[in-house]
This record gives sequence, C-alpha cells and structure tokens, in this order.
Amino acid sequence: MKHLLSIEAMDATSIETILENAGVMKAQRGNSQHQPLAGQTWAMIFTKSSTRTRVSFEVGIRELGGNVMFLNANDLQLGRGEPIQDTARVLGRMVHGAIIRTYAQSDVEDFAEWSGIPTINALTDAEHPCQILTDIFTYQELRGPIAGKVVTYIGDGACNVPRSWIWAAEKLNFKLRIAAPQAHQPSPDLIAKSGGNITVTEDCNEAAEGADLLYTDVWVSMGKETEATRREQDFANYQINETLINRANPDALVMHCLPAYRGKEIDADALEAHAETIFTQAENRLHTQKAILNWLVN
Ligand code: CP
Ligand code: NVA
Repeated sequence: MKHLLSIEAMDATSIETILENAGVMKAQRGNSQHQPLAGQTWAMIFTKSSTRTRVSFEVGIRELGGNVMFLNANDLQLGRGEPIQDTARVLGRMVHGAIIRTYAQSDVEDFAEWSGIPTINALTDAEHPCQILTDIFTYQELRGPIAGKVVTYIGDGACNVPRSWIWAAEKLNFKLRIAAPQAHQPSPDLIAKSGGNITVTEDCNEAAEGADLLYTDVWVSMGKETEATRREQDFANYQINETLINRANPDALVMHCLPAYRGKEIDADALEAHAETIFTQAENRLHTQKAILNWLVN
C-alpha cells in the first residue's frame, strides 16, 4: 500500500517517477485512454480552505476515470469529535483512496494507517508535498534539471512549504537557502536531520545572490491568523521585489505557491512580471497530482 504523506518519507526514485509521469500527463491531457482510477471513488477531507489543491484533485481524479467526493471535515462527525481512527476505518470500507488537508501531520498518518487505503497529504502544518513536487516539476520543465541549482526561499521558513523544500533538497541534490527572521526559521535539528545542502540566514540579499529560483509563500499560514499583526511586523523586510530579483541569476525563476498577498511577501509588479511562471506552476498542480494518483495505484 503506497501513500503520499510527506517528502520526508519519499525516496528519490519515487519522486523522479512522479516528476517524469507528470510530463506525460501534461503532454497527453485530453488524448489519453489511461483510466487508472476507473471504478474508484476517492474522498477529499478538508479542514482548511483550498482553491488550487481542491480543484486540481477533483479534476484530476475525474480525468483518470474516478469519482470524487469533497467532504468538509466540519460537516463530518469528525468535526464533533469522532476519532480520526474511526473515521478512517469507516471510509476505508467505502472509498478507494483519500486526500486530506488538515493541521496535524499525525492525523494524516493515522488515517493512512487505520483506513488501509492510499492516502495523500494535501497540506498539513508539517508539509505540503504535492506543492513541492509540482514546483520542482515546473522548475525542470522550464529550466532543466534542478540538481546543483540554488533555490532561495524568502519568508516564513518554519511553515509547511519550506519544510517540504528542506526534505527535497537532499533527495534531489540542490542547494537550498532560507531567508527568514530568527523566530521563523526552521529548527537546526530539522536541517541537520534532512542532511541537505541548506543554509539559513536572516539576510534576504545574501540568500538571493546568484539564485536560480526565488520562492515565497504567505507570511500568515492557515491556522496562524491570530498572529497576523505580529507576523506582518516580523516579515516586513522579507519580500520578493525587483531589487531582490536583481540579485538572483538573470534567468532565475520566481515562484509563489499562491494565494499571493501583494505588497506583503511579493510586490504587485514582481508578481505580474512573473505571472506566466506562477500560473503555470498553479496549472501544474493538476498534472503532477494526476501523476501522484497514478503512482499510488500502480
Ligand atoms: N497552493 C495551494 O495549495 O493552494 P490552495 O490553498 O488554494 O489549495
Ligand atoms: N503555508 C501556507 C500554504 C498555502 C498553500 C499555509 O499553510 O496556509
């Protein structure tokens, strides 16, 4: 039984298989008879908001021949305190796979263990693996192999998105620089455990120098709303803008996982100047997640 619960738990071969197949899915969209999910129904259980992840999985499952049901976690008995283990045992007897977006990583892992069906992490506080697989696919589609390149992440270095980047760096052999205020940096233990070529600094300019990819994410992740005012102060100097982009390689890509807050983690001009990359990145969620689904059921 395969699951996609984190980049941490993936091996490089599986990542490469998915990235390769994402290209096939993209090239053959609309012209493929391949229906690996025919006869299956997948459940999507979301505790947090979503536009890209929700729509791309719903479309992707249908394109692969499956049925999909979207379940707002608060409408399930889960929202009234039914344990995740019981929810998992019930759904495991009814549906063929599950895609979960929630807070605790342990909930996704418990669901996978107790349901006995392929389970996908669609974002937890710990990781956003589908996003980072897509980002790497997009980088390689536009610029070639990511191995040996410099990826610079600007902003909240302790949230799910950079955490998935941290695990990917060692597996795919690229350099990762994280620029974040002291209080929002990933723990040294996590960096050491990942084994990657990773530097963490408070200095955005130093981190952006000669970078091949500049990347950012929101300052206020879902679940951190009560810290919004404090975070806006802490992150005030952590923005992707033209000045910072000028420090990167001339052909550097600028990416954002979206949603974007203009004037905060990225300024409006930088976002528009790199909109083609950023919205290709968003589109690629569909192709990459179809490859993830295909990998899970094969
Ligand atoms: N990037 C991302 O996961 O977007 P959504 O929150 O809209 O799914
Ligand atoms: N770090 C963000 C990612 C959104 C896709 C969050 O968790 O809200």
